[in-house]
Amino acid sequence: MTKAREQWGTRIGFILAAAGSAVGLGNIWKYPHMAGEHGGAAFTLVYLFCIIIVGLPILLAEFAIGRKTQLNPVGAFWTLSGSKAWKWVGFLGVAAAFIILSFYSVVGGWTLKYSFLGLSGAFNELLPGSEAASQMYDAFIAKPFEPVLWHLIFMGLCILIIARGVKSGIERWSKILMPLLIVILVILVIRGVTLEGAAAGLEFLFKPKWGDLDAGGVVAALGHSFFTISLGMGAMITYGSYLTPKSDLIRSSLAIIVLDTAIALMAGIAIFTAVFAFGQDPAEGEGLIFVVLPTLFPQIPGGSFFAILFFFLLFLAALTSAVSILEVVTAYFIDEKGWDRVRATFLFGGVIAAVGAVAALSMSGYNILAPITNFTFFNLLNVVSYKYMLPIGGFLTAVFVLARWGIPQFIEELKYGLPGFKAPVAVVAAFFIVAAIVVAYIIIQEIVAVVS
Ligand code: PHE
Repeated sequence: MTKAREQWGTRIGFILAAAGSAVGLGNIWKYPHMAGEHGGAAFTLVYLFCIIIVGLPILLAEFAIGRKTQLNPVGAFWTLSGSKAWKWVGFLGVAAAFIILSFYSVVGGWTLKYSFLGLSGAFNELLPGSEAASQMYDAFIAKPFEPVLWHLIFMGLCILIIARGVKSGIERWSKILMPLLIVILVILVIRGVTLEGAAAGLEFLFKPKWGDLDAGGVVAALGHSFFTISLGMGAMITYGSYLTPKSDLIRSSLAIIVLDTAIALMAGIAIFTAVFAFGQDPAEGEGLIFVVLPTLFPQIPGGSFFAILFFFLLFLAALTSAVSILEVVTAYFIDEKGWDRVRATFLFGGVIAAVGAVAALSMSGYNILAPITNFTFFNLLNVVSYKYMLPIGGFLTAVFVLARWGIPQFIEELKYGLPGFKAPVAVVAAFFIVAAIVVAYIIIQEIVAVVS
């Protein structure tokens, strides 16, 4: 017996859920620290270019593939291509979901820990530029037990939401959390730009110094554009599969991209104005948000309140993204293996939690990769997923639309929910060809750089 497929309740519910997937640690944690390490504005421009040229067509393709087939990524590629070979693209996505969530939920745990640190007033005594904040961060990360515990709590919450399903789990939470996140960011941006010395931060973020951008920065910007819109691993195929043909994919995609980009830039503004105002190092790395922001809050009237709110909302943004990753895995086992939602969620959420614990430990001196490299297991999961798996997944999705599904069929799918929509096949094909070439070129560059 087949059960009716779950569906989103409302259009805005879907947009907020998909934006909830897109907006996450990628925007607020990763983007600022990567821009900080790769030359600020130059990195930002390459990243924006990639979002428009590569991100938009692939996002549309993922939604269209999901809605057309009403299936998880493996089933979707298989059904639409009629060939078993293509289902491997879907498998690549499910594998990427395992890998990403394993390190993502570790950082999700950090955001929870920092929410509680804010609550306990631990930031109150911190002074901008002092060493105390980085000592606090290092001391936490270096403990074997605590980060694992917070990671497990984070994964547990993720599992609970996904076990409740699409409408009463994912959609319900996204509708509450996303608007809240925006309000808080606006407040933090206003605080940031009104700091004395904020202009230097804005200049860093918006005035390109191309000399600071190396080839590594370009690869990182491309990988990040996939990561931040949750592309290349089937999350948007899965979310698209809960849509009815009534929805307008083009407008929804634009709304999601605009929201995601605006939130990343706002996070960048809030953070770099503070970094420069207090003379700190923008290339601090992945500790940037956990080291710099805690020293900013005590400067704001009512700062401890904002600190709690900020880290809590960062945690919630992480949660709405993490659930979309777990949903890819869950949807696969429900659709393809006929499993029950609760069973699939708990079992595979549990497996991911276990791998994540290994990743958390790798940051605290128990790195299972230590005998072979000084790269941590955590970093390996991070880099392999965003630099390789997502761009390759996105590339194959573009090739799939071009060479297997067909541009005319793709355009037909876009017409549902947007009756009168017309687009010349050649123009749409050109978009996908350019997207595929840009991604292929950058991936090849990266592989050449690593090999040589
Ligand atoms: N887009 C999310 C973020 O920016 C991360 C993510 C990647 C979510 C891939 C789902 C799939 O944090």
